[in-house]
Parts: sequence; structure tokens; C-alpha cells
Amino acid sequence: MSIDYSEKIPNNVGLAENKTLQRALEHWQPEFINWWQDMGPDDSRNFDVYLRTAVSVDPGGWAHFDYVKMPDYRWGIFLTPAEAGRKVNFGAHKGEAAWQEVPGEYRSNLRRLIVTQGDTEPASVEQQRHLGLTCPSLYDLRNLFQVNVEEGRHLWAMVYLLHAYFGRDGREEAEALLERRSGDADNPRILGAFNEPTPDWLAFFMFTYFTDRDGKYQLCSLAESGFDPLARTCKFMLTEEAHHMFVGESGVGRIIQRTCEVMNQLKTDDVAKIRAAGVIDLPTIQRYLNFHFSVTMDLFGADVSSNAATFYNTGLKGRYEETRQDDDHQLNDASYPTLEIAEGEIITVQAPYLNALNERLRDDYVRDAVAGIERWNKIIQKQGIPVVLSAPHKAFNRKIGPLSASRISPTGQVLAEADWTHHHLDWLPSAEDRAFVGSLMGRVAEPGKFANWIAPPARGINNQPVDFAYVRFN
Ligand SMILES: [Fe+2]
Ligand SMILES: [Fe+2]
Repeated sequence: MSIDYSEKIPNNVGLAENKTLQRALEHWQPEFINWWQDMGPDDSRNFDVYLRTAVSVDPGGWAHFDYVKMPDYRWGIFLTPAEAGRKVNFGAHKGEAAWQEVPGEYRSNLRRLIVTQGDTEPASVEQQRHLGLTCPSLYDLRNLFQVNVEEGRHLWAMVYLLHAYFGRDGREEAEALLERRSGDADNPRILGAFNEPTPDWLAFFMFTYFTDRDGKYQLCSLAESGFDPLARTCKFMLTEEAHHMFVGESGVGRIIQRTCEVMNQLKTDDVAKIRAAGVIDLPTIQRYLNFHFSVTMDLFGADVSSNAATFYNTGLKGRYEETRQDDDHQLNDASYPTLEIAEGEIITVQAPYLNALNERLRDDYVRDAVAGIERWNKIIQKQGIPVVLSAPHKAFNRKIGPLSASRISPTGQVLAEADWTHHHLDWLPSAEDRAFVGSLMGRVAEPGKFANWIAPPARGINNQPVDFAYVRFN
């Protein structure tokens, strides 16, 4: 199924046949471009960036690479092909034909799910907008911009659903998505992690590793939705999302690689000496990891949640890999372990499975996130350095759910307030850590050159050499 690029809005949803919808989206389009000019990557309007653009939804060859000026990127609407005879695969409507229209009684919940997902997309562009000014290489600058334009496209994906299926409310929500601002006191983005600043490239790589991976898990569970257009939209978004997590994993890996090389050259693990050599010490990397991991834990929502039960029961949002689960896909009598604090300890209790679906998704996520940390540890091991990075306990530094009521260490000990005060700067980045990392950030913009604190990648993008001119500044 190819994409029509002769249209003002590239799409594979037959937009030309629906004039009302086409007009509405063509009206939203200049507002999106205004938002991009205001809140998109700083000072980047004239750059030619070697970007991939989706030209098909065929998994075998969907991307085309070429130089593009970012405001001219062809943001469009791409759904994976409909699956003949697809059913609602879980909840009370299990076995019914998947919905091609919004079921009236679930309209506001469905809209809420779409708006919450949609809001994260422009938020991350806003969070990352200054990073181009301190890029460690042209290769990294290009990757940042690739992530940014695709988050912009993900906003289009959700706005299409709002316009196509939710009438006037949908149009209003689409406007509001361009009005909220990450970190704004009066009109912030909906979810906490998307209001945190992303001030430096270590934070950017941690964000794309941990927080874009939350995106993956949310999209995977929405890709199971009984509302077929949402499922098909999310499936294609996941194709793009994989690169964002690659940028994060390889970015952190290259920072670790460079730090270990310098530690071996200097034969030291002294933080002051490592920092004086202009690379990021492993304890600081661990603290950034703890921060981004814990902030992302909260994105999955409260451990026990009646909304989660409703979204599942009504067929709107499934589990990760729902159809591969070996159970009745209704979960009415099942239970699932969640954590609580009792008498100064974290204990496991069984909650009704339907209410614990946020926790289930969080657990699926943790398994995946931990696997990448193990791959980072292999880089350290290979350099012969006896340091092991680890994910903090999932109860650490929570701001949402019952676990947020207590102070909990990265190893899962419930702490007195004084212990937390005494130790938290060992566990979370201090202002001084952030200032140090910030002090390393400077712009490296010559093909093939890399900042001192990060190793070059093993290979370039789309089989281009590492010293390719991924961005031309004009
Ligand atoms: Fe996204
Ligand atoms: Fe992403």
C-alpha cells in the first residue's frame, strides 16, 4: 500500500475522498508548522538534514533517505493495512468484529487515551529543542532531528484520529495539543516526565532509551485496541519508534565506551581525575540512569487503577502482546502481584488483575529496559573495569501510586526521611553533576569529528560512512 505524496498531506487513508476531513486537516497543518517553527529544533530552519521519510507501510522497504529541510519534512498519515476479519481480542467484547467507528459509550475514554498519547509527541520535541546547539557530532545531530521529525509525525497520527473520528471535540483537542507546552507552569504537558527538561545529551540518550521505550509499550498495548484505526496507526508508529530507542541505547553505550577508554588510559577510577579528562564518570551515568528510569516508571500510572481496568474491559487498550498471552483475555477472576508498603517494608500483595494492568505493563517494560543495561555492562566488562550499572528498584523515587508515599532506596529499602536526605545525592543527579555534564556540552559540527566524551558509532546511518555530512548548514 503506497503513500500518495502528490497530496498536500501525504497519506494512505484516502484523504482526497473525504473533503471535509481533508479541509479540517489542511487547516490544522499551518498551525502545526507554526508550532514547529516556534517550538521545534532551535535555529535549524535552513539545515539540509539527511533524514528518512516514510514512503510506504511495507515493512520490507518503508523508508527513503535524502537531504530535507526540516520545515519541509512530509509529515503525513500512515496506517498499516487493515487485517481482514480482525476481532476485538480481549475484554467484555472479546470475539466481536473490531470497531471501525468509535463505540458511542466509550467515546470519551478513547479520546482521552488518544490525547494522552498524542500529547507526549510534541512534548518531547519541545524538551529537546535546544540540544542541536551542543551536538557532539553531525551524526548525532542528524539522529536528534530524525527523532524530532518523527515525534512530529506521531502527533499527526493522533491528530488524524481526533479529526476523523471525534468531530468537534476532536478538533478542539487537536488545537490544544499545539497549545500546551512542556514545563509550562500554566499550561503544561499532561504527563510528568514530559515536563522535565532535557538539558544535555546524556539526558537525551537516557530519555530516548527509557522514556521512548515507555512509548513503545504504550503503543504496543494501543496496537491491540478493538478500535481498529487506533491499532493500525500505532502499529506503524512502532516502526519509527525502534530507531529512537536505538539512538538512546547506542548513545549511552558510546559514552560508557569513551569513559572506560579514558579510565584505562589514566589507570584510574578517581571521579575527579576522570572528570578532569573531560569524560563522564560511571557513577554520574548511574545517577542519570536512576533518574530517567524512575521518572519513566511513573508514566505507567498508579499500580492499582480502575481506569486501567475500564480501558481493558471495554476493549480499548490491551496488554503488551495481548494475543500471545495464554489466558482467557478477560481476567475477571485473575490476580496479579503489586507492591505495597507495610510496617516499613515493601511487600507483595495480590490485586485483581484488571486493576493491576498498569503494573503488568510496567513489569513488561522493566524486563526490556534491564536487558539494555546488561548490554551496557558488557561494554564496561570488555574494558576490564569492575563496575556494574543497574536499574533501581521499581519503587525508587516514585511520584505516583502508593509507593510514592515513602522514601525508597535504589535497592528497595524503605528509608526514614533523614536517610533519604543524607543519601539521595548518591542516587540522583545533583545540580553539580548536571553542571559538570553541561560543561562538557559544546558543538562539534565537522564531518567525522566527535566530542571527547563520546566514542564514534560503529557504523553510519543507511550504510553511509561515519564521517558522512549528515547535516549541511548552508
Ligand atoms: Fe513518538
Ligand atoms: Fe519516540
